[in-house]
Amino acid sequence: MSKTIQNNLRLGVNIDHVATVRNARGGQYPDPLRAALLAQNAGADGITAHLREDRRHITDTDIEALMTGLNVPLNFEMAATDEMQKIALRHVPHAVCIVPEKREERTTEGGLEVAREENKIGDFIAPLREAGCRVSIFIAADRRQIESAARIGAPVIELHTGAYCDAHAEARFAERDAELERLREMSAFATSLGLEVHAGHGLTFDCVQPIAAFPEVMELNIGHFLIGESIFIGLEGAIKQMRELMDQARG
Ligand code: PXP
Repeated sequence: MSKTIQNNLRLGVNIDHVATVRNARGGQYPDPLRAALLAQNAGADGITAHLREDRRHITDTDIEALMTGLNVPLNFEMAATDEMQKIALRHVPHAVCIVPEKREERTTEGGLEVAREENKIGDFIAPLREAGCRVSIFIAADRRQIESAARIGAPVIELHTGAYCDAHAEARFAERDAELERLREMSAFATSLGLEVHAGHGLTFDCVQPIAAFPEVMELNIGHFLIGESIFIGLEGAIKQMRELMDQARG
């Protein structure tokens, strides 16, 4: 909990897909903790890991190893289930990010429907907050969802950037620009309600800068692209390059 945070736009490196590669064969390597320590040394301000219900990548043992081995904060991504709440309360990571989770999805497809389940999610996060975890809710850049997140007392929201990144990658530029504008407006709106704003999902070297330039955004969580890029330029190089692009955008 006394772990230090330095940058005004933090980079959280998501190491889930190091575990995906390990689990493709079973066994011990590549080791997610080793990748996390390397990320920490390369300038990551935090490490993010999603313990999914089906344990398809990160495992309970990985979470234990990250909790004891890291010097930077762990952001524990989890679905709003009793099982995950118990695990989070056992470890009390620096941050927990509540995400929607469907067994059949390949990745987290949308944001959490907090507006429709306000009371339920409010009750769910209360013990996590009381335990001292900084609770974040992963939501779409949507006014109703943001208002609900503020009403239930979540200190942080993470805005889903997937639609913006997909539109960019597929050269649907009008759609991309509309998504970007929505993210910009909703970042400012959330900040006006007193929420801290994070963002993530699908970010790459090519599309990170417009999001990093939003002054309200305090943290980006980036995983799949960085782990993929590390095949070509190494994890340290990929993180350093991402950090540089973020700093440039922040001006
Ligand atoms: N933020 C949240 C809440 C996520 O669920 C994910 C994916 O696990 C990310 C950020 C990182 O997304 P990506 O791996 O596409 O960079």
